[in-house]
Amino acid sequence: MKELPENSVDLVVADPPYNLSKGADWSWDNEVDLDGFGGDWDKTMENWDDMGLEEYAGFTQSWLSEAKRVLKPTGSIWTFGSYHNIGIVNMVYQMLGVEIINEVIWFKRNAFPNLSGRRFTASHETLLWGHTGGPDNREYTFNYELMKSLPFPEDNINDEEKQVRTVWDIPNNKSSQELEYGKHPTQKPLRVLERLILSASNEGDLCLAPFAGSGSTCVSAKLNDRDYLGFETESEHVELARERLKNAKEKPDQLQNGTSENQGTLNQYD
Ligand SMILES: C[S@@+](CC[C@H](N)C(=O)[O-])C[C@H]1O[C@@H](n2cnc3c(N)ncnc32)[C@H](O)[C@@H]1O
Repeated sequence: MKELPENSVDLVVADPPYNLSKGADWSWDNEVDLDGFGGDWDKTMENWDDMGLEEYAGFTQSWLSEAKRVLKPTGSIWTFGSYHNIGIVNMVYQMLGVEIINEVIWFKRNAFPNLSGRRFTASHETLLWGHTGGPDNREYTFNYELMKSLPFPEDNINDEEKQVRTVWDIPNNKSSQELEYGKHPTQKPLRVLERLILSASNEGDLCLAPFAGSGSTCVSAKLNDRDYLGFETESEHVELARERLKNAKEKPDQLQNGTSENQGTLNQYD
C-alpha cells in the first residue's frame, strides 16, 4: 500500500485478520448431524491471525494509516471485525481522525451454535464505516436512494423502500459458484460485500481490498462494474482469487434467490 499514490482510491473494504486464532486446536466432525446446521464448518487457526495485543494494535495502526493516505476525500473505508479486534479498529480510526459514519451489525442467523453452553452464541460481526474528511468535510459517497430501493429478499430486518438500518440480516452462506475454485478459511459471502460496495461507491470507482483473501471484494467490485485492487500475502489465496476473478462474469444465484450452502468459521474459544 505504501507504493500507492495518495488520494487514489475511492473505497477501501478491509477484512483484516481478527486476531482470533487462539485457544485449543480442535476440529468439528462434519459427519455429525446437527439439526439446521449442516455443512462444512472449521475453526479458524491461522498463523497470520495470531498476534500479541500490542503487535496487533501496531499492525492495525500501520495499515489504517496507509488506507487513510490513499483514500480520496470523497472516499470511505469499511472494516470487518468481531469482538476480538473491532475495539482496536475503532480506537485507531479515532486516533487517525477517521470519522465513523456507521457501525453496522451483520447478523448471521445461521451462525454455528455454541457447543460449551458457557456463553451466548456469537451470531454477528461488526463493520465500521468511516471517512477521512472529518465533521466539517463530509464528501464521502453514500448511495442513499439506491440502498433504500433495493429489495434484499433474505433480510428480515430491512424492507424495500424503507431507510436501511444498521443491522443487516444476511446468512453467512456461499453459493456453490462462490466456492467453485476452492475455499478460504474466512471467506465472506458476496452479498455482504455487494451491500458495502453499492452503498459507498459508483461505477468506475476504484475499490481496494488490503486483505484480499480469496478475492471476494475484488469479485464483487468486478461484478458491479468497479475497478479493483487487492493485496494478499498467502500465495494459495492469491491463486484462488485470480481464478475467481478470471471466471467472474455474472452474479451468483444466491444474490437473486437465496440458494445457499453452509460453510463458515467457528470463532469461539471453546
Ligand atoms: C479475513 S481474511 C480475508 C478474507 C476475504 N475477505 C475473503 O472473502 O476471502 C484476511 C486475509 O488477509 C491475509 N493477510 C494477513 N496479513 C496480511 C498482510 N499483512 N497483507 C496482506 N494480506 C494479509 C490473510 O492471508 C487472509 O487471506
